Amino acid sequence: MRKILVTGAFGQIGSELVPALQQQYGAERVVVSDIRMVPSQARRHGEAEHNYEQVDVSQPQQILEVMRRHDIETVYHLAALLSAVAEERPHLAWSINMGGLYNVLEAARQTRCRVFFPSSIGAFGPSTPRDHTPQVTIQRPTTMYGVTKASGELLCDYYVGRFGLDVRGLRLPGLISYVAPPGGGTTDYAVEIFHQALRYKHYRCFLGPKTRLDMMYMPDATRAMIALMEADGARLKHRNAYNVTAMSIAPEDLAAEIRKHIPAFAIDYQIDPVRQAIAESWPRSLDASAARADWGFAPKYDLTGMTADMLVRLREKFRV
Ligand SMILES: NC(=O)c1ccc[n+]([C@@H]2O[C@H](COP(=O)([O-])OP(=O)(O)OC[C@H]3O[C@@H](n4cnc5c(N)ncnc54)[C@H](O)[C@@H]3O)[C@@H](O)[C@H]2O)c1
Repeated sequence: MRKILVTGAFGQIGSELVPALQQQYGAERVVVSDIRMVPSQARRHGEAEHNYEQVDVSQPQQILEVMRRHDIETVYHLAALLSAVAEERPHLAWSINMGGLYNVLEAARQTRCRVFFPSSIGAFGPSTPRDHTPQVTIQRPTTMYGVTKASGELLCDYYVGRFGLDVRGLRLPGLISYVAPPGGGTTDYAVEIFHQALRYKHYRCFLGPKTRLDMMYMPDATRAMIALMEADGARLKHRNAYNVTAMSIAPEDLAAEIRKHIPAFAIDYQIDPVRQAIAESWPRSLDASAARADWGFAPKYDLTGMTADMLVRLREKFRV
């Protein structure tokens, strides 16, 4: 049976997407890859060593060789630099985000393989309508991250139209999760706040109190990625990429929700001008109706459900 390859698999998303894929399709069908070496913990537990490959997505031969050797049918291409890191290192971000995507698409064209591309709310810009941001609208991002995401969407669509490749994508909002730490994005505060609330009952936030952005809990995000790849391709009116979101929240909303569980929790603000400017160039709330209509997108967690679950999971994790 043909296999699934995940690139950048040791990051925030991959750490939860890989187990979800393994559960859905069987561990033997999932090939886990990252530029980083396999964590020694996984090696100790003897976990699927044969299904780990060290792959640098900026090296086309490495991707092609692994895809051929494992007879890959679908690639979830997660390897990328995130928004804040990309602003610090724009040249490297272009090279990894665009070069890596091009290399994956080319390898997929040669092996007739399907590709999932994670775009982002960062693919929009200050001239995009910020509320109920439509599926099809102005995309003039002003960050290097956004430039690579908007260009990435176009490149994926080109491979669909020109080569008939099956490429699908989501415009993901900020993702909240407890398994792996976030990788340097503008919405990282929404994860950090939980850790600091539990440890210190205090969090100093780098975005202003009223900076509203779209968010989603990781279990909903991994479910959405798999559902999109499982959907009937004939029903997909859009390829790259579908707006998805589960909540539109500001730091003060999240702090108030956490305070329902930890009454002594306090938040103050020390605004990072770089990340604040990025956030202010992004939508406040996406219209996800196209995803609902075309492939049944239906997130389960709202702010209340996500906050309660995050606190339970993190308390368990800290105890261990
Ligand atoms: N996490 C979010 O909130 C979010 C939101 C929207 C879109 N996305 C997108 O989803 C994807 C995954 O995001 P994430 O949060 O898991 O990122 P992350 O930073 O947590 O993980 C990225 C992984 O890519 C790996 N990597 C970096 N350079 C590489 C290279 N040259 N070759 C192979 N691997 C390399 C890193 O080692 C890391 O494990 C990215 O494309 C990101 O833009 C993430």
